[in-house]
Amino acid sequence: MSEKKKYYVTTPIYYPSAKLHIGHTYCTTIADSLARFHRLRGDDVFFLTGSDEHGQKIQRAAEAKGMKPIEYVDEIVALFQQLWKKLHISNDDFIRTTEPRHEKVVQKLMQMSYDNGDIYKGKYEGWYCTPCESFWPENKLPEGKHICPDCGRPLELVSEDAYFLKMNKYADRWLKFIEENPDFIQPESRRNEMISFVKSGLEDLCVSRTSFDWGIKVPWDPKHVVYVWFDALANYLTAIGFIDDPEKYKKFWPADVHIVGKEIVRFHSIIWPIMLMSCGLPLPKKIFGHGWLIVDGTKMSKSLGNVVDPIPLIDRYGADALRYYLLKEVRLGQDGNFSLPSFITRINADLANDLGNLLQRTLAMVEQYEDGIVAGPLVKEPVDDDLARCAVETAKKFEAQMDAMKINDAINDTWAFIHRTNKYIDETTPWVLAKDGTQKDRLNTVLYNLLESLRIIANLVSPVIPVSAAEIWKQIGLGNFDSANLPDAQVWGKYPAGTKVCKGQALFPRYDLKEEIAEEAVEKEAENKAKEVCPAAKEPTKPEITIDQFSANDLRVGKIIAAEKVPKTSKLMKLQVDLGTETRQIVSGIALQYKPEELTGHNVIVITNLKPTKLCGVDSKGMILAALDGKDALQVVFVDGMAPGSRVR
Ligand code: MSP
Repeated sequence: MSEKKKYYVTTPIYYPSAKLHIGHTYCTTIADSLARFHRLRGDDVFFLTGSDEHGQKIQRAAEAKGMKPIEYVDEIVALFQQLWKKLHISNDDFIRTTEPRHEKVVQKLMQMSYDNGDIYKGKYEGWYCTPCESFWPENKLPEGKHICPDCGRPLELVSEDAYFLKMNKYADRWLKFIEENPDFIQPESRRNEMISFVKSGLEDLCVSRTSFDWGIKVPWDPKHVVYVWFDALANYLTAIGFIDDPEKYKKFWPADVHIVGKEIVRFHSIIWPIMLMSCGLPLPKKIFGHGWLIVDGTKMSKSLGNVVDPIPLIDRYGADALRYYLLKEVRLGQDGNFSLPSFITRINADLANDLGNLLQRTLAMVEQYEDGIVAGPLVKEPVDDDLARCAVETAKKFEAQMDAMKINDAINDTWAFIHRTNKYIDETTPWVLAKDGTQKDRLNTVLYNLLESLRIIANLVSPVIPVSAAEIWKQIGLGNFDSANLPDAQVWGKYPAGTKVCKGQALFPRYDLKEEIAEEAVEKEAENKAKEVCPAAKEPTKPEITIDQFSANDLRVGKIIAAEKVPKTSKLMKLQVDLGTETRQIVSGIALQYKPEELTGHNVIVITNLKPTKLCGVDSKGMILAALDGKDALQVVFVDGMAPGSRVR
């Protein structure tokens, strides 16, 4: 038997500086579909994702929350892992750059490069983009402007001691490598950008920082922490055991493909290869720069408020629906737009109608006409050959397309075959055959061919919609999807005749577009409302007081034993409050928000030593505490369960 081919695919490791959005989801879904395809084909796959946890940006984000960086990243990384689980991401490892296994690798690479004479000490005086963690030499900036060419945000002027990597030393070798390996950077447009970037002159790269300390220490000079990109890129070596597991490293390195977004192609295709050249290590085989997912025409950004959270989409429509939409709608390598109407349209048309219906109709007929078991192909007609030929051709093309990362073409051709199979039902009219007692064998053949088509379809859709593929597999009676494989899907006739199908739930529900849009609008409004700062929060805080001044308030728990509105007023409520040793009458402005019966029997907090007064002619001795938002909302502070007279401090 020939040895299994290995396939090592990675996503970028994400910054835990904020919640992940559907742009990140897109990137990881691409890599996951490739990993799943290669596993289906029988390759030995290693699929890596993770988190990029060091650097100034993270340190600042943690400080802003008053947290230690590690506590801060721990919380966010746990959310990443939950998201990937929800999206059925099948990564073989999740690397965190704060793990000891990674620290060792980063320090080793730095040392190797240093020992090779490629790292020297100096001082960095120049521009830095903290959100991108990127140094920008003046000659790469738009004239006179100090904004980041990648993200458009203002750059900071930095001046600090640092170590530098001799990038320029490797420029010619890099250009030669790119010439000899034309597929190294894809798509081609990105390759051309990178070539002109290098040709315009490569500055040596600052590979350490001294103005903060959240990072891995430079092994020979611990006042420096390793530049976060040098640290991050090394993750691709750590996870496959560069230091700890030489056999695994030998098997999986070089990586087959690093999937990255277009703005970080530069780091992966220039800095990373030069780091590796400097250490004398082989380069990865391919860097693929995908486009951005934009929302309703604009790039997602927190300040624009158009960041789409994948979690509610997955909760409402399912992981497969989102995965399908991202991979189908966005052409790999180009930017693509996300909009709810097009998402719903895809679910209804492609998933519920084309695929879901095919499964439902087929299984309904197999159950109704054959009690759930089809005897096999018995009486062939030319239309069957056409279906079989189309199936095999599609499955073979699918392999070539996915191998070449033409995911959109693979999806489109698979759906063309799904359409072909639906058409086969109309051509063969099984319901007519079922009425004719002499057509039993032909009916069995038609139904067999439909089940066989579904077997092949389940294989081909599995990298994109794995949960649905497994469900189809189960419903057509084939059990656990682990038994599926691409070589079998490229051969017609492997569906075992005589299998009992087990029809289950519809694969995808249909949605009413108008209702979904209305629902989204309601949710957005609620979200915006929740984000609004209440007027009271904007009121200036009162001057500082001492604890003694605060203690001058006599705060006690009181039980409301009677409540009635003060006649001829709209806001005032007269309360009788039991304070344990006495009962007080207190008038409170809470009648718009509470009815008397909602108050009686509840315990509240009373300021008992407030000077007695008269409100609209009614005696009031004390005051009860309530929260006010500065608009209409008011809520009395209830402390039910505490004995009347208890102190409140
Ligand atoms: N930490 C670095 C990567 C280090 S890899 C050694 C980083 N992290 S990131 O969290 O900012 O971005 C991770 C990936 O998400 C990038 O590939 C980026 O292109 C991708 N995306 C972020 N927003 C995106 C969209 N709106 N659309 C598609 N991908 C997007 O960069």
